[in-house]
Amino acid sequence: MSISSLASVEPVVPKAPAANQFEGGCVFIDGAYAPLSEAKISMFDWGFTRSDVTYDVATTWHGSFFRLDAHIERFFVSLKKMNLAIQYDRDALRDILHGCVRASGLQDGYVAMVCTRGVPPKGARDPRQAQNRFYAYALPYMWIASREKQLAGIDLHISERQRISPASVDPTIKNYHWMDLVQSMFDAYENGHDTSCVVDADGNITEGPGFNVFAVKDGVVYTADRGVLEGISRRTAIELCGSLGIPLRVAPMPVAALRDADEVFITSSGGGVLPIAKIDGKPLPRFPQQFPGPITTRLYDGYWAMHDDPAFSDPVDYRA
Ligand SMILES: Cc1ncc(COP(=O)(O)O)c(C=O)c1O
Repeated sequence: MSISSLASVEPVVPKAPAANQFEGGCVFIDGAYAPLSEAKISMFDWGFTRSDVTYDVATTWHGSFFRLDAHIERFFVSLKKMNLAIQYDRDALRDILHGCVRASGLQDGYVAMVCTRGVPPKGARDPRQAQNRFYAYALPYMWIASREKQLAGIDLHISERQRISPASVDPTIKNYHWMDLVQSMFDAYENGHDTSCVVDADGNITEGPGFNVFAVKDGVVYTADRGVLEGISRRTAIELCGSLGIPLRVAPMPVAALRDADEVFITSSGGGVLPIAKIDGKPLPRFPQQFPGPITTRLYDGYWAMHDDPAFSDPVDYRA
C-alpha cells in the first residue's frame, strides 16, 4: 500500500479469531489469522532485500499487554518517518495484536507488528510504487537472557564496532539494520561473553542487540541520550527513577564510564531490567558482594510491579 493510495481505502476490521485456535503462536497476515506455519513473505520484498522495514515488539505477561499504547504509538511514528503505511488505525491494530494473543492462548507473549516496503511492480525501482505489507504475530515470550543467566551474572562485551551512524539510519525508528549488532555478538560469543553493545563515532556507548544500556555511579543512573532506540523499557526505567527519587542523567556515556560503573543494567521488552555482572569478563566493583546492586534491584522490582498497574496493562480476553 503506498501512502498516496491509502486515502481511498476503507480500513478493514479483521474478524476476531477463536480463542486458542492456534495454540502456541499465531500470525496475522494478508488480513487473516493463521498458524505460524502459514507465515510467508516474498523473497523479493524490500523488507528482506533492503532491510526496508520497521517493526515493534510488545509483550504480554500473565495474560496482559504491558504499555501496549506506547508500542503502537512508536510503531506509527516509525511508519511515518519511513514513508510506510498500513491500512489499519491504532484501534484496529490493537484488536489484531489482541487477536494474535487470544488465538495463540499465550499468557507470556512476544507480540510483533511489522511493515515491509513490499515488492515494487516488475521493473520498477521506485519505492513509492510498492505495496507495503503488514503482518503481526504472537510467539512465546523471549528473554534477552534466561533467569538462570541473569542470576549467574551476564557478561557484557563492549565492542569496538560502531553502531550505524544516526545520520544514515535514524535509530529512533525500530529497524532491521543489525549488521553491526550481529557482528558484535560474534565478537562477544567467540570470546566467552554473553552479549555485546556497540559505540558511536565519538566512542560513546550506544546500545546492544535488542536493549538499551544503563550505568550507575555514586547513586546516579546514566543512560545514552542519542544514537539509540528510545526503548519502551528504557522509558520505564527512566520514569521509575523519577518516581523512586533516583537521580538520573541522560547524556553521552563514554566507554570508561561503563567500565567504571558501580552497577550496570540493560533494558529490553525481552526481560525488562536485566542486571549485568561483568564487563568484558571483569566483575563490576560491587560484584559479587552485592549483586544485583541496590539501584538495579529497585528498578527491576519497579519494572515488574508496573505490570500489575492497570494504567499500563491491557488484559487479553481469552474466552472462547
Ligand atoms: C536496537 C534496540 N535497542 C533497544 C531496544 C529496547 O527497546 P524496548 O525497550 O522497546 O524493547 C531494542 C528492542 O528490540 C532494540 O532492538
